[in-house]
Amino acid sequence: MSILPRSVVIKGTGSYTPDTVKTNDDLAKIVDTSDEWIFTRTGIKERRIAADGEQASDMGAKAATQALSNAGLNPEDVDLVIVATITPDMPFPSTACLIQTKLGITNAVCMDIEAACSGFLYIMEVAASLIQSGRYQNALIVGTEKLSSILDWEDRTTCVLFGDGAGAAVLCPSDVPGTGLLDFKLGADGANGEVLYMPGGGSANPATGASIDRRLHFLKMRGREVFKLAVKVMEKAAKEILEQNGLNSDQLACVIPHQANLRIIELLSSRLEIPMDRFYLNLEKYGNTSAASIPIALDEAFRDERIKSGDLILLVAFGAGLTWGAALVRCP
Ligand code: UT7
Repeated sequence: MSILPRSVVIKGTGSYTPDTVKTNDDLAKIVDTSDEWIFTRTGIKERRIAADGEQASDMGAKAATQALSNAGLNPEDVDLVIVATITPDMPFPSTACLIQTKLGITNAVCMDIEAACSGFLYIMEVAASLIQSGRYQNALIVGTEKLSSILDWEDRTTCVLFGDGAGAAVLCPSDVPGTGLLDFKLGADGANGEVLYMPGGGSANPATGASIDRRLHFLKMRGREVFKLAVKVMEKAAKEILEQNGLNSDQLACVIPHQANLRIIELLSSRLEIPMDRFYLNLEKYGNTSAASIPIALDEAFRDERIKSGDLILLVAFGAGLTWGAALVRCP
């Protein structure tokens, strides 16, 4: 079944979410919203918010430390660090380099890749391919986001949806065929970029007094359009990856979807004909943490023993770009 020439397995996972909890009722004090609206439209009850001075690299480093410890590896064993984030500490150096230094990793190639909420699946495929090439051995991959830093806290249509956090995984080669990361199906459609984007801060709209007055440095979203596209592309990616591996959905022990909106996941469940009890959910606690969403859920699913050795699991995500992806994993 595997199309990959050398097996690559998830050797360890880790996650970190900040201590500060912001509930829907807390948000109702700053924008015109309610717990009832947010919960019924999204399934979200609360989210975590990073402390002042706590950056994406700090959260990523904490998740990564846990992942390395679970994998039984030391920082000097890591030769590749890839980070997925849309909220890097700064445009450069990369958040991967910042995490490298925080962990004392001295002998690794480090880079960031940006594919928004699909970012973790993108870095997973890139890292797996580099390990398969034989040029790298032990990859640390991290999804980390401080979305609270780019939210418009006066815009009720976006600020209620997102939260902060980080998740990480260590990928290593394995001699056991047919185990670990079996296949990926990634995609992108730049033509739909403006349904979800942040216009300011890059070379198109560098920071000026005018860009700040026009609120260009905040995330903008046309939610209803994103909703429809999300269901469509995740259904497509999931069906394609199952079909190209000769599998049917009954063989999946667990689906870990990007945690954006419970209604999106429910629609996906009905279109894939996979019952909701096989979907791993934690968005009630964390909201949408973009690139951190899948690795936080993956780590919690391992720790909760929702996934065990031998299980076949499907990871599926969508995000700004648009980007999307699915991955099939056989737990070692
Ligand atoms: O990782 C990818 C990130 N993005 C997403 O996953 C977002 C995908 N989209 C969604 O999750 C949903 O479209 C939303 C949760 C964003 C919105 O839900 P919806 O059911 O599509 O609501 P809507 O945009 O159609 O808005 C319905 C009403 C509007 O009022 P009117 O025009 O009917 O009077 C909104 O102004 O709800 C209003 N509204 C709110 N009311 C209370 C929008 N946001 C809020 C709010 N509180 N926070």
